[in-house]
Parts: sequence; structure tokens; C-alpha cells
Amino acid sequence: MNRVFLLFILSTAFGISQIQVSLGAGASIDFFYLLLQWPGSQCNTKQGCCFPVLPKKPNADFIIASLQPFYYNGTFPKNCDSTNRFDLSKVMDLKKSLTENWPSLTCPRSGSKKLWADEWRKYGTCSKPALTEHEYFEAALNIKKKVNLLNVLSNKAIKPDSKSYYRVGDILDAIRNTGLNVAGIYCNVDKKGKSQLDQAILCTDPKVSAIVECPGIPMTGICGGDTAIKFPPL
Ligand SMILES: *[C@@H]1O[C@H](CO)[C@@H](O)[C@H](O)[C@H]1NC(C)=O
Repeated sequence: MNRVFLLFILSTAFGISQIQVSLGAGASIDFFYLLLQWPGSQCNTKQGCCFPVLPKKPNADFIIASLQPFYYNGTFPKNCDSTNRFDLSKVMDLKKSLTENWPSLTCPRSGSKKLWADEWRKYGTCSKPALTEHEYFEAALNIKKKVNLLNVLSNKAIKPDSKSYYRVGDILDAIRNTGLNVAGIYCNVDKKGKSQLDQAILCTDPKVSAIVECPGIPMTGICGGDTAIKFPPL
């Protein structure tokens, strides 16, 4: 899913059609895309969702979908250090928070360890200036908490509910008005084919310490400002 997503960004935001992935790239990265996903909109799809820890229903909150390094020229490094394998023992102190904030939603239900290992292998190892495994995951959790997207939206009366439709432009404005820069909103469709809020795309600095202006704004793959979308309860 992420690969398709990146294709959209690359082919539109940066006006190039050919993805060039620099393996084991040496250059410092310029920014990260931080993808925050609304789990209610995954659970509502035909595929549905499976949370790693049951029977407990997770908190109704956005989750981290991905944190991906990019260069200004629209290319991105990937799989930068195969010797630097994900090691759960290095993030044991974060495990509870990762399970809540960065869970795997795929079915059949599994733990989220594979997801974290994949993200670390593909993206985390490419953070440069280098973040350790612990720093990468901790920084993602911190920035997600700092953004507090659910709160940002509820303050503007944009709340999960089964009946309302919200204009994408109003959602983007609500986020921007808090001083956060947002590149766009990804939509997916529920079982009835209605568009709904899937992910918000934000950008961070290379240390994942602050939200920054996104250098590229995807133009397809994101929903247009006038689209009316649902924000379904979880
Ligand atoms: C994009 O920028 C990075 C970092 O400066 C560089 O390593 C890479 O070769 C560049 N790729 C292209 C296609 O310009």
C-alpha cells in the first residue's frame, strides 16, 4: 500500500514519473513524510481491520501509518542498512505506546512487530543524520502526540460520527489554522463506496522534532478540497 502511495506523491508533487530509489544512499535526507491514519476508515472498508490486541478495542485516535525519509528532489532512500536489523528489545520501553499508536491493522490479526521491523528496515535505517532505532520510533510517537490531530479536528467540530460529511478543504484549514502544515488528505471508500478520511499527510524535519512545510504537495491520490467525506466512528 505504501508503495502505491509513494508513486502518487512522486509522480505528482515532483513532476517525475520514474521513481528512483537510492539504495544505501549516503546523502542527508531533507524531510520525512508522516502519515497519520484514521483506523475507523480502515475498519469500514471491505477488507476491514484486525487490531493486534483484542478483545480490547483501541482508543479512538489517529495512528501512525508511516514515517518515510525523502529528498527535496522527490527521490527517497530505502533499505539503507541490512545489517541494522529491527530488534524489539531496543524499544521494549516503547512497546506499549507503539502497540497503541502504531499498530498493524491487517487481517488476519497479528502482532505489530513485523510492521515495525518493515518500517525500520525500509525507512528508519535511512534516516540521516542517523536516528537509532529507539530514536526513530520514539520521535514518531512524540511528534504524533504533539500534533494531536484528533484534538485539532474536534476543536473545529470535525468529529467522528456516522452521519456527517465534511469538506476536505475545511479539514485542511482546521489543521493549518493551528500552525501545522499539511500536504493533503488521502481518502478511501467504505463498504457503500462513500469517500472517507483515511490519512493525513504531514512533513517533519530530518530529526522528526517538528512539523515543517511539505516541500511537495501531492495533487492526485489525495482528495480534492471540495470533496465531502465521512469521518466514521471507530
Ligand atoms: C536526489 O538527491 C539525493 C540527495 O542529495 C541524491 O543522493 C540523489 O542522487 C538525487 N537523485 C536525483 C535523481 O537527482
